[in-house]
Amino acid sequence: MERTFVMIKPDGVQRGLIGQIITRFERRGLKIIDMKFVHVSRELAEKHYAVHKGRPFYDGLIEYITSGPVVAMVLEGSNAITVARSTMGATNPADAAPGTIRADFGIEIGRNLVHGSDGPETAAFEIGLWFGDDRPAWTRDVDRWIFE
Ligand code: RTP
Ligand code: MG
Repeated sequence: MERTFVMIKPDGVQRGLIGQIITRFERRGLKIIDMKFVHVSRELAEKHYAVHKGRPFYDGLIEYITSGPVVAMVLEGSNAITVARSTMGATNPADAAPGTIRADFGIEIGRNLVHGSDGPETAAFEIGLWFGDDRPAWTRDVDRWIFE
């Protein structure tokens, strides 16, 4: 089983889409391991998006992600990183496939509603950054009908 970090960005929260976005991940079969509502500090935003420092969109990105509360979560499942990202769709909602979160709810790259870790190392870093090391395990009884 793999874990990934997913965040509903401020536009998703402001537009009242928290429930609909979480539903997309839940119905796919991803299991929620941890979740919280966060008022993102500039410091946390800069650590989270450190890889993008210096890019032309960086300042706007930090402004966006600190502009209102977000919902942060840890999701688990087989290939959770890839599956979460395919549920989200391409970075630019204009290019995202219909049926993905970004295509169904978004139109511009700077308001693309969700974040998901892009690889195993990023996932480990982001889960540690947002949640720390410890979280209780729980057994989901339907798992045998979702995972083979
Ligand atoms: P994310 O990190 O948010 O899950 O998105 P991603 O992997 O699909 O895309 P990434 O390249 O990591 O970019 C991070 C976020 O920066 C904003 N962005 N704006 N204006 C632009 O050209 C541009 N490029 C990226 C987006 O909000 C993107 O999700
Ligand atoms: Mg990224």
